[in-house]
Amino acid sequence: MPAHARAADPAADYLLHCAACHGVDRLGGMGPALLPENLSRLRKAEALKIVREGRAATQMPPFAEVIEGEALTKLLDWVYTPVVPAPRWSADDIRASRIQHADPAQLGERPVFSADPLNLFLVVEAGDHHVSVLDGDRLEPIHRFPSRHALHGGPKFAQGGRYVFFGSRDGWVTKYDLWNLQVVAEVRAGINTRNVAVSPDGSHVAVANYLPHTLVLLDGDLNLLKVLDATDRDGKQSSRVSAVYEATPRQSFIAALKDVPEVWEISYTRAVEDIPVGFIHDYKQREGAFIPGYLNPRRTQLADVLDDFFFTQDYSELMGASREGAGQVVNLDVRKKVADLPLAGMPHLGSGITWDWQGRRVMASTNLKTAEVTVIDLKTWEVLRRIPIRGPGFFLRSHENSRYAFVDSMMSPENKHILQAIDKETLEVVREIAGEPGRTLAHVEFTRDGRYALASLWEDDGAIVVYDAATLEEVKRLPMKKPVGKYNVWNKVMREEGTSH
Ligand code: HEC
Repeated sequence: MPAHARAADPAADYLLHCAACHGVDRLGGMGPALLPENLSRLRKAEALKIVREGRAATQMPPFAEVIEGEALTKLLDWVYTPVVPAPRWSADDIRASRIQHADPAQLGERPVFSADPLNLFLVVEAGDHHVSVLDGDRLEPIHRFPSRHALHGGPKFAQGGRYVFFGSRDGWVTKYDLWNLQVVAEVRAGINTRNVAVSPDGSHVAVANYLPHTLVLLDGDLNLLKVLDATDRDGKQSSRVSAVYEATPRQSFIAALKDVPEVWEISYTRAVEDIPVGFIHDYKQREGAFIPGYLNPRRTQLADVLDDFFFTQDYSELMGASREGAGQVVNLDVRKKVADLPLAGMPHLGSGITWDWQGRRVMASTNLKTAEVTVIDLKTWEVLRRIPIRGPGFFLRSHENSRYAFVDSMMSPENKHILQAIDKETLEVVREIAGEPGRTLAHVEFTRDGRYALASLWEDDGAIVVYDAATLEEVKRLPMKKPVGKYNVWNKVMREEGTSH
């Protein structure tokens, strides 16, 4: 019977036409996972176009001639419907997924290229799932390699920038040796993943998952150490993990839960106190129950869920914002909220930057819902200035050697092609750099010395656009396929004040 003559049965169509590549359980295979969580960033109309026309230069074939129109729409609705019960990804699945690509003993001990290894940039190209390596002195690419489908969250560097760890939306963690330009190992730590964090010595890796509700801890070779179920203190309510960050001075990872009002701190050193759990009669006499401090969560209970946050320089405090936009300051030593933040426009604290202004330490953040950059005093938590910009922005970037901070208006459909430069002394916009209307220009990162600022022309036929950070004039363009992010090794490893970590 020809496909169009029978009643549409999306589950059957899926098994017949899609399962071979996307997995019988939709968890992915040669093609990416097809679950609503994983597809959430792809508009349905776009997804339909991909299924009808296929994706050029990939294994994704066109189905317009194979599956009739209505059946195709139904099939697509079906892959945008959650799998019930939620798919599992156990410790055994994680262990079984690990791939050793290179023998560490065979990897050379110095870079295989002549460029300054600390001034390399990694450019994540989402258009065709590749990563380009740029020489930050010559501002030229030296290498390009395929990545996992849809990298998510910034890559994280370890061991002075020799190794870099990538997380993909579908849960794959990749360890890459930047000196040898080789993938070392990979493991699938989840089904839908937000980001990864790595200890500076590269010995511990943490993975924040939406699906399943877990925080996964790996060693530096991507062997599984532990799966932490993300649940509240009583183990009753489970939660997605929104993000995990590394806090070097504390030798710990800090994780934000999305559905439970708790922040977790997970120590990756064994030289740490036990964690009291349950009722404790007398702390000193150690009555009550304790669990080891190493690789277990220390919980801070909050009134609101935190979605995104920013750490103070010494990592003793974090500024957080909830989805509703309310801001609060949490002290990680006393494990309590210590102040409220007068922020209303949904600050994007994860991309906040700091600098010294008139004898004070300030931090500035974009807001996802209001067209302003907010400047906050890091001691008093007062808002010092609200700088109007062209539209709600996503990324704010500077460098200690630059007097300018660059902000985009990415969340504004009309003005997403405009970058603005803010003078960090006068706190005013001093220059506007407009690309072509309708084509996003965003995400700036500076060279190691702060001389050049690199921005993304965020399109499939996009580019890295290089600006002189003093004159703000365009210097050159390097064609790239939807360069969604770029990361300078030095700025990340040194935790440069003008960039996020
Ligand atoms: C021969 C293997 C193969 C088959 C069969 C296949 N796909 Fe794909 N599909 C892929 C690959 C590979 C990609 C990733 C393409 C890329 O690199 O962007 C993909 C991408 C997609 C995407 C975009 C996902 C994203 O996150 O970007 C959708 C949606 C999709 N496929 C749906 C389907 C559906 C529905 C079917 C069945 C009707 C199907 N595919 C059959 C290999 C396949």
